[in-house]
Amino acid sequence: MKGLGLLPLLVVTCALGAWAPRRVYLREEFEDGDGWKRRWVESKHQPDYGKFQLSAGKFYENEEKDKGLQTSEDAKFYALSTRFKPFSNVNETLVVQFSVKHEQGIDCGGGYVKLFPDTLNQEDMHSDSAYYIMFGPDICGFGNNKVQVILYYQGKYHENNKTIKCRINKDTHLYTLIIRPNATYEVKIDNMQMAAGNLEDDWSFLPPRKIKDPYARKPRKWDERLQIEDPEDKKPEDWEDFEYIPDPEAKKPEDWNEAIDGEWEGPLILNTKYKGQWKPRIIDNPNYQGEWIHPEIDNPKYKPDPTICHYYNISVLGLDLWQVKSGSIFDNFLLTNDEEFAEEVGNKTWGRRKDIEKHWRELFEEMEKRKEEAEAEKKREKEEAREDDFWGIEEEETEEDSDEEPENDGQMQDDDAESVPVRENEKVAVDQKDEL
Ligand SMILES: *[C@@H]1O[C@H](CO)[C@@H](O)[C@H](O)[C@H]1NC(C)=O
Ligand SMILES: *[C@@H]1O[C@H](CO)[C@@H](O)[C@H](O)[C@H]1NC(C)=O
Ligand SMILES: *[C@@H]1O[C@H](CO)[C@@H](O)[C@H](O)[C@H]1NC(C)=O
Ligand SMILES: *[C@@H]1O[C@H](CO)[C@@H](O)[C@H](O)[C@H]1NC(C)=O
Ligand SMILES: *[C@@H]1O[C@H](CO)[C@@H](O)[C@H](O)[C@H]1NC(C)=O
Repeated sequence: MKGLGLLPLLVVTCALGAWAPRRVYLREEFEDGDGWKRRWVESKHQPDYGKFQLSAGKFYENEEKDKGLQTSEDAKFYALSTRFKPFSNVNETLVVQFSVKHEQGIDCGGGYVKLFPDTLNQEDMHSDSAYYIMFGPDICGFGNNKVQVILYYQGKYHENNKTIKCRINKDTHLYTLIIRPNATYEVKIDNMQMAAGNLEDDWSFLPPRKIKDPYARKPRKWDERLQIEDPEDKKPEDWEDFEYIPDPEAKKPEDWNEAIDGEWEGPLILNTKYKGQWKPRIIDNPNYQGEWIHPEIDNPKYKPDPTICHYYNISVLGLDLWQVKSGSIFDNFLLTNDEEFAEEVGNKTWGRRKDIEKHWRELFEEMEKRKEEAEAEKKREKEEAREDDFWGIEEEETEEDSDEEPENDGQMQDDDAESVPVRENEKVAVDQKDEL
C-alpha cells in the first residue's frame, strides 16, 4: 500500500527532473547553401554593419559541413540574428552551444552570442538592445581574453566573477554554457569543464549571504604576536655595550687649566670587547591566540531567490560584435534542454573536424615558414652577389641582375630576350592596365 502511495509522487518528480523530454529550440549548422539568408536577419540600425559570408575557412575537415558564418570586413560592427519559437528555461536546463574559429589570428574582437526575448526587433538590433544572456569568448589585446557570461537579472547585467580564459589560437573551439533549474551552471570549452558552481556564488545577483558582525570587536587583549622577546632573558653582567671608551693611557696635559680650558676629557678609543647592543632572544609566544577572525552573521538583506536566470520567451540568438581583424567563423549553434545531447552534437561537429583542421593548419604554417626561410636565403645570396659586383668581380654575369627592379620580376624574365625599346612600351601597357 505504501509503495503505491509513492508512485504518483515519483511520476511528478521525474516529469520535472532529469527525464524531461529532449527539446531542441535552435540548431543551425549552415548546410543548405544560401538558406541561412532566409533565417538570419541583418540589422539596419546602422547603415554600415560588416557583412557575414558563408565559409569553411582555410582549413576544414569537410568543406560543405564545416561552413559557418564568417565576418568578412575589418574594423566593423556586426549585427545579425535568427529567430526561433519562444521558450522558457524555467524548470528546464538551458544549454547554449556554438563553435567559433578565429582563423585570422584575432587581436581585438568579440566571439560571443546573445540571447534575446521575443520582443526584439531584429531589423533594429544593436549593442544596446536588451538581452538575457551574453556568452562566449571576448578578446582584446594581450592577456585580455575571457569567456563572457553576462546574465540579466532584475534590470541589470551581471558579469561572471570567476575569470574563465578563452582559447586564442586559430582553430575551431566549442563553447557551451549550461544553466540548470537547481541554479547551478557549467561552462565548457571543447567539451571540457572550465568552470562550474552555483549561480549565486559566482555572480553578484544577490547581496552576500553572510556579513561581518557589525557589533563584534577584536578584544583589546587579543594576542596576535607569533613570537616575542623572552622576558626571562637578562643582559649578562659583563656585557660590553660601549663601542668607544676613554683611552686609559691618555693623560691630562701638564699645562691644562680647567678655569680656562674647561674640564679635561681624554680621547676615546674603540672598545675591543664591544659586543654590540644587547637584545633579548626571540621565542614563540606562549599566549599566541591566532589571527582574530571577524565573526559573521546572516545578512539581513539577503533573501534567496529561486527565480534567478528564469527567462521567458527566449526567442532570438544574435551576433552583435565588434571586430578589428575579421575572419572569425561561427558555426553549430545549438539551444537545447539536454546536456548529454549537446555534448554528443559537439562531438559530431567540432569533434569531427578539430584534429584534421589543426593538423592541416600546422602543416601549412610549417610550409610557409620554410618558404620564408628559403626566400631569405635567396635574398642573402643575391645581396652577396651584388657586393661582389660592386668590387668589380663577375661584372659580366651579374650586370642584368643588379639592374632589375624587384617588383617587376615576372616581366623582366620576358624582357630578357627583347631589346630596350620594347621594354619601355610594355611598361606603358602595364600602366594603362592598372588604370582600367
Ligand atoms: C516550475 O516548478 C515549480 C515547482 O516545481 C512550479 O510551481 C512552477 O509552476 C513551475 N513553473 C513552470 C513555468 O513550469
Ligand atoms: C544540480 O543538478 C545537477 C544535474 O541535475 C546535479 O548533477 C547537481 O548535483 C545538482 N546540484 C545541486 C546543488 O543541487
Ligand atoms: C563579485 O565581484 C564584485 C566586485 O569585485 C564583488 O563586489 C562581489 O561581492 C563579487 N560577488 C560574488 C558573488 O563573489
Ligand atoms: C511571452 O510572450 C507571450 C506572447 O507574446 C506573452 O503573452 C507573455 O506574456 C510573455 N511572457 C512573459 C513572461 O513575458
Ligand atoms: C564525446 O567524446 C568524448 C571523447 O571522445 C567522450 O568521452 C564522450 O563520452 C562523448 N560524449 C558523448 C555524449 O557522446
